[in-house]
Amino acid sequence: MNEFDRPQADASENAVEVRDVVTRFGRQVVHDGISFDIRRGEIFALVGGSGSGKSTLMREILQLERPTEGSIRVFGRDLQSLRGADALALKTRLGVLFQGGALFGSLTVLENIGLPLREHTTLDPKLIEQIGTLKIALVGLPPEAGSKYPSELSGGMIKRSALARALALDAELLLLDEPTSGLDPAGARALDRLVLQLRRSLGLTVLVITHDVESIRLVADRVGMLAGGKLLALGPVAELENSADPFVRGYFQGAAATASRTVHPPGRAGEPGGGGPAIPRRTDDLWEE
Ligand SMILES: Nc1ncnc2c1ncn2[C@@H]1O[C@H](COP(=O)(O)OP(=O)(O)O)[C@@H](O)[C@H]1O
Ligand SMILES: [Mg+2]
Repeated sequence: MNEFDRPQADASENAVEVRDVVTRFGRQVVHDGISFDIRRGEIFALVGGSGSGKSTLMREILQLERPTEGSIRVFGRDLQSLRGADALALKTRLGVLFQGGALFGSLTVLENIGLPLREHTTLDPKLIEQIGTLKIALVGLPPEAGSKYPSELSGGMIKRSALARALALDAELLLLDEPTSGLDPAGARALDRLVLQLRRSLGLTVLVITHDVESIRLVADRVGMLAGGKLLALGPVAELENSADPFVRGYFQGAAATASRTVHPPGRAGEPGGGGPAIPRRTDDLWEE
């Protein structure tokens, strides 16, 4: 890619274009030729069983890993040919909430949100704090949350704080890896509504990896389903729910419970509410509805 590609690239309808992606780890084939687009402004849900390669695909879009074969374009830029400053500039247009939504336990919420700003900008600390305060309001956290440590927050507040951190650099593409996992149903729906609201007010494009069928129905414009290294299904939720393929249909019909049992066992290490010590919950989390 050269400079001349830019204007055309920026006019692209698609935020992400995945083409014939193959990913192998040793002899294990995780992606066996995957192609799909994520349109600008859409909320795209990526589903599939545990180990089907959802997080790996997200890491590839983030330039944290490279596919073995195939190509990924983000905002029209081919990741394969991006280097140095261009690669970094593209990264700052992406915000990410990693699986588990971890915050740094030794930092306050405000310090956590300021991390990407300290890393990628030369803004002075006072301004970084002001931006952080704005982002706290943006995700519906009370102002006093800024000075709290993660151990003092409910699961929902931690997710919101991680979302605020993902939006610290005014991301255009938001990548969410199982954002509602570990939340109770009310907290999960509140987070769904927040994602919809942020998409509307900030014009975001969102890729969300989730097992939460309720969440998919509420937020997703389209769904892609990974299975056996392939994109087994792609389309609006209503279409997949009525798919001729019983496996696809079953995933959305009642299989939700099965999927969450087999694919997402409670107590899995590295996830909030699972493994390690429980996250203290405030009982007066009224703002969370
Ligand atoms: N860096 C890596 N090295 C070796 N194997 C990996 C690596 N990253 C992921 N895998 C393997 O790839 C498969 C897909 O992982 P992942 O993308 O995390 O799945 P999902 O998010 O769908 O549960 C898993 O079997 C995992 O063990
Ligand atoms: Mg994963």
